[in-house]
Amino acid sequence: MISRRGLALLVAIMGGASVMPVFSYAKDTSVAPVSHKQVTLPRVLVLATGGTISGKADTRSAIGYDAGAVTGAQLIAGVPGVEKLAVLQVEQISNIASQNMNNQVWFKLAERIRRAFANNEADAVVITHGTDTMEETAFFLDAVIGDARPVILTGAMRPSTAISADGPANMYEAVKVAADPQARGRGVLVVLNDEVHSARGVSKMHTTALQTFHSPNLGPVGYVDPASVRFVAPARSQQHLDLPADHKLPRVQIVYAHADMDAQQIDDAVKDGARGIVIAGMGDGNVSTDALAGVERATKAGVVVVRSTRVGNGFVNRDVEVDDDHYGLVASMDLNPQKARILLQLLLANGKTSAADIQNAFSATL
Ligand code: SIN
Repeated sequence: MISRRGLALLVAIMGGASVMPVFSYAKDTSVAPVSHKQVTLPRVLVLATGGTISGKADTRSAIGYDAGAVTGAQLIAGVPGVEKLAVLQVEQISNIASQNMNNQVWFKLAERIRRAFANNEADAVVITHGTDTMEETAFFLDAVIGDARPVILTGAMRPSTAISADGPANMYEAVKVAADPQARGRGVLVVLNDEVHSARGVSKMHTTALQTFHSPNLGPVGYVDPASVRFVAPARSQQHLDLPADHKLPRVQIVYAHADMDAQQIDDAVKDGARGIVIAGMGDGNVSTDALAGVERATKAGVVVVRSTRVGNGFVNRDVEVDDDHYGLVASMDLNPQKARILLQLLLANGKTSAADIQNAFSATL
């Protein structure tokens, strides 16, 4: 029989077109032909992008660390038992802290996932990612993948070298969810700290705590416990927006509202050529009277303006405190400013420019 270690050796890393096994069977003399049980395990493609889950500190108790110092293959090798859940193939897409996440990596991820599913290379995908922008990457991929097969993002709040690093458990649970047939048809999911969240709902809400991910408006869609994965929300139909062929997304700026606010930031965004502006408004998506005059100038100049909120919880509905119909505005509903920005970029890139069409898309999946 193949040993547990032998199974772990199935993990391979691919760079571009060439396949470079980091681990091979060669040194394991106990290797036997792969049994039926092993080949029927789901195939999970792990795409590593960096983040704290791949971070390293000088000492185990150090507070500072370098995100993105460990490769995806090294990460998987440190997760005991994961080889019993799935046959894993690891690819390194990037190795960056996620505050440096960008459109280039997003397009690379989206195209790799689409190719893996189109060629039937994988039954599910797990992406390791920094937590800072995980919700944005999850939301972007959710909008463009359009496949029932699970795509799961995971990460960690503590670097891999820390006392009680959370990365290995999160990785294990992410693969467990990816391998679970119930995870199909739920869009892109985020799995950390025993919880499963939808890409639409989830947000990072604490600077340092392990329990940083919450879905303030929608709640978790499931839980992971030692015995099972329990989904508590129904599967949902997925949006599918095209990826622009030129790999460019239009400029959409977020303007953060505050007391004593004038219209300067809004006027500057229009001057800078923004095609859209998302207001991180006060309360129910509000701005000052002066800023609202700037918003009106922006919409008259053909810039799409979406009202979201800086509050972090609750919906921004149409025509409640602001007359959206009068000003030609879009209400973000449950989407926070950073997700509203991505949806607006994708809609503009897909030729949607009227406030009515854009509002329909923002309201569509609720
Ligand atoms: C990052 O987002 O890359 C750094 C923070 C983290 O992963 O927790």
